[in-house]
Amino acid sequence: MDVLTVTALCKRFGSVVAVDGVSFTVGAGEVVGLLGPNGAGKTTTLHMVLGLTRPDSGTVEMFGHDMARDRSRALARANFAASYLHLPAVLRVGEILDVYAHLYGLRRPAARVAEMVEMLDLGPLRRQQFSRLSSGQQTRVLLAKALLNDPGLLVLDEPTANLDPDAADRIRGLLVEQAVTSGRAMLITSHNMREVERMCDRVHFVSGGRIVATGSAVELAGAYGVDDLEAVFLRVARGGAPSSTT
Ligand SMILES: Nc1ncnc2c1ncn2[C@@H]1O[C@H](COP(=O)(O)OP(=O)(O)OP(=O)(O)O)[C@@H](O)[C@H]1O
Ligand SMILES: [Mg+2]
Repeated sequence: MDVLTVTALCKRFGSVVAVDGVSFTVGAGEVVGLLGPNGAGKTTTLHMVLGLTRPDSGTVEMFGHDMARDRSRALARANFAASYLHLPAVLRVGEILDVYAHLYGLRRPAARVAEMVEMLDLGPLRRQQFSRLSSGQQTRVLLAKALLNDPGLLVLDEPTANLDPDAADRIRGLLVEQAVTSGRAMLITSHNMREVERMCDRVHFVSGGRIVATGSAVELAGAYGVDDLEAVFLRVARGGAPSSTT
């Protein structure tokens, strides 16, 4: 069974059609990417998946639960990270993770917080206030919070945007490893095509609120007759069609 099934989602903001009939699935252990130019509708789609924005039409089903009818059941095994999220600014990093561990009702909250601190290298930051961290440090705390409940579906909106290359590389590695070992489903957006090539089993190109191309990075490069996903992106974003020779 798919962890996430998105069917014919639509959303407009006034005269702007942000999402225009988007459908896709994410299976257990699968990493799916949404790519596309600024304003394509990726974040709006993620927010509808998470029940943060109500679709005009279409449905979201998570772990067999319909988001519109049974939001809390649908979201019970999901989590989300994005660099634009805010955590309580005056709390210290350790306090924030303790609060979320209790909110999530974890059985061994202190042990799980310690694991996340270790995994995301937050030891030296534990006593610092969230608002005083650098943006990359804040991103690591947001990821730790998102991993705390060992989610079966992890939604990440540009997860490594603020991270230095070393931290980004390590975090991509651990996210992919956990998707494989724990069967976690992941839905991510990114403007870093190398990151997408490394992490995603399948990508959907979104343009003007619609999915205009789908496949693995290798399949898409083949279909467009180019070397890599970066070149596919430029072709798709500039209105190119797949190569007629394939
Ligand atoms: N709350 C809102 N009110 C009005 N318009 C919105 C709102 N949220 C998004 N939009 C519009 O919907 C469209 C899609 O925005 P969205 O944030 O989903 O794009 P995106 O693909 O995530 O882009 P980016 O790559 O820049 O993050 C844009 O035209 C945006 O201006
Ligand atoms: Mg966005």
